[in-house]
Amino acid sequence: MSQPECIILKIGGSAITEKSEELEARTHIINRLAEEIRKADVKPLVLVHGGGSFGHPSAKRNSIKEGFRNPSQLIGFAETHHFMTVLNGLVMDSLIMNGVPAVSITPSSCMATEDGRIKIFESAPLRMLMKIGCLPVLYGDAVTDTKRGFTILSGDQIVSALAVQLNARRIIMGVDVDGLFDSDPKKQVAQKPATLLRHVTLSELHRLMNSIARPDDADVTGGMSGKLTELVPAIEQGVSVTITNATKADRIFKALRNERVEGTAIEKE
Ligand SMILES: Nc1ncnc2c1ncn2[C@@H]1O[C@H](COP(=O)(O)OP(=O)(O)O)[C@@H](O)[C@H]1O
Ligand SMILES: [Mg+2]
Repeated sequence: MSQPECIILKIGGSAITEKSEELEARTHIINRLAEEIRKADVKPLVLVHGGGSFGHPSAKRNSIKEGFRNPSQLIGFAETHHFMTVLNGLVMDSLIMNGVPAVSITPSSCMATEDGRIKIFESAPLRMLMKIGCLPVLYGDAVTDTKRGFTILSGDQIVSALAVQLNARRIIMGVDVDGLFDSDPKKQVAQKPATLLRHVTLSELHRLMNSIARPDDADVTGGMSGKLTELVPAIEQGVSVTITNATKADRIFKALRNERVEGTAIEKE
């Protein structure tokens, strides 16, 4: 069963956690986003959230992305997955308390990768949840990998794969900045402030991607550069992408309702 009108919403770990403070959630933002999702009332919808300071530090400490090299990593693999379930629990609490029939789908239980790319995805339960009117919620996770033993599967890769498999119409990426800029808006110099790019085509995106540096901090999934790389296959298939600021009120609400919103629209052409 395909979901031709499906929207995939990603809420970045940058928006719902304090990325600089391990295991610190921005519960007020999680709660407001849950309200916006309920108010927007769009279906079918799939929600994917990132890990932020619940996922990246433990993953980095234990070299989970690189794979299984030493049995001492196993507790780190378990810990990284567990911390993600804790963040997911906070998201689920907010959604359900706000009246959204959200059901958590644990990626590591229905997905496995081959050398870092999704190879196995048992999607039947997710499709059935959508069919009965529930909101499936997934997240970036520590998963098993046929070559590496285990690895990190980013929420961004999940978003793109779901958009392709479910034949989604739109992807909405909520982050902690207003959209895609010509340079990192957090590292702007006074003389040359970063400019928000409101419309970007796929060919422009390819040119831009070379100039976006990969983050050098604890981020294990490549930051904005990794995000854009993951989105390319979905955009090629004709899915339109909106990148907007999930920390600011009503941006996600408007994007869900397909209203004009401050941010970046990326289209195939
Ligand atoms: N050209 C750019 N435009 C927008 N953001 C950028 C750019 N280059 C780097 N970034 C950084 O990317 C971050 C978003 O990526 P990331 O931290 O991975 O978010 P998430 O947790 O939502 O996946 C922003 O906080 C921003 O500082
Ligand atoms: Mg990221």
